[in-house]
Amino acid sequence: MSNPAPLSQRSDMVVFLNGEFIPADQARVGIMSHAFSYGTGCFEGIRGYWNAQAGENYLFRLREHFERLHRSARILSVTLPYSVDRLMEIAVELVRRNDFRENCYLRPCAFKADETIGVKLHGLEDQFSMLAVPMGDYVSTAGLRCGVSSWRRIDDNMIPARGKITGAYVNSAFAKSEAQQNGFDEAIMLTSEGHVSEGSAENIFLLFGNELVTPPPTENILLGITRETVMQLARRELELIVRERVIDRTELYVADEIILTGTGAQLAPVVAVDHRPVGTGAIGPVSRELQRLYGEVVRGMRPEYMGWLTPVFGTAATTATATPAREPELVAAADGDKAAGNGHKADKATSNGRAAGSHRARASRQPAATR
Ligand SMILES: Cc1ncc(COP(=O)(O)O)c(C=O)c1O
Repeated sequence: MSNPAPLSQRSDMVVFLNGEFIPADQARVGIMSHAFSYGTGCFEGIRGYWNAQAGENYLFRLREHFERLHRSARILSVTLPYSVDRLMEIAVELVRRNDFRENCYLRPCAFKADETIGVKLHGLEDQFSMLAVPMGDYVSTAGLRCGVSSWRRIDDNMIPARGKITGAYVNSAFAKSEAQQNGFDEAIMLTSEGHVSEGSAENIFLLFGNELVTPPPTENILLGITRETVMQLARRELELIVRERVIDRTELYVADEIILTGTGAQLAPVVAVDHRPVGTGAIGPVSRELQRLYGEVVRGMRPEYMGWLTPVFGTAATTATATPAREPELVAAADGDKAAGNGHKADKATSNGRAAGSHRARASRQPAATR
């Protein structure tokens, strides 16, 4: 039986908060934190795929996720005390310490932590956290029924969608609940001009013949890492024409196939929009092929795409995106120096040597079956 306790009550799982790996039940964020009141945080969602045959957990496109986190932090004026390389090391160490030998999901978050009343972005103290949990499907990958939302996608000069900002997800939550309470599985959101933007937490692709189209970055979308992956796979492996262009609402009603993409959603074919069948009303051949390809790539079954994967348990030398060969102590010291001027704690876990070489959570763990 899986352990139903929420993460905040788990002493057997490890999280990273303000430079330390600590048991999850000891991680505390104040209820007066700025981000709690005002949504002033930015975050990432990253998946790890367990390949039982290889005995490896592969973190997918880790570098790209942390590059995007850095961009989100710049937009939100949040100081991130760690380089992309250091964030990758922390992510690998976190999954290793939790000893996840199953699919998992990582959530790093950089947020305004000052305990103060007052809406602004500048002059506030920031904090950083990262958690990891086991994770299965986020939405069904067996055919979604979608509804076009009455909630419009937030505009770039309202809350910038290209930053993955916590407060912006209220917009997604309105759309998702409306869709589900109206009997759909997922929402498709339009821009304020009425063009197709994206799902509540997914980018969108429409297929017309051999042309795959997706809204451009200026349509208030999050520039998805899965989106970019699918664009590459469609061009290289399926020889499709892939275009970024403005898409009208009614194109949703006449497309041959529609796919939602995201780290959580993975590749989720859409079989109906606003009660109209997409194509034949069943998952189409291009969607199926892309799903198959993606499933192989993320699990390390396609050698030509291994550069997108960071193995957790293996050696750093096996992948182009693996953690760099710098000494952990030196990295921690450098980050600590940088952090000192920014009000952040240094990475104590690594600087006191606990992180190096540890393959298991510090606290005793439940058997895998109970997670
Ligand atoms: C609003 C939104 N759009 C798109 C995506 C897809 O982005 P990615 O593929 O990088 O996960 C997400 C997922 O995080 C999202 O929240």
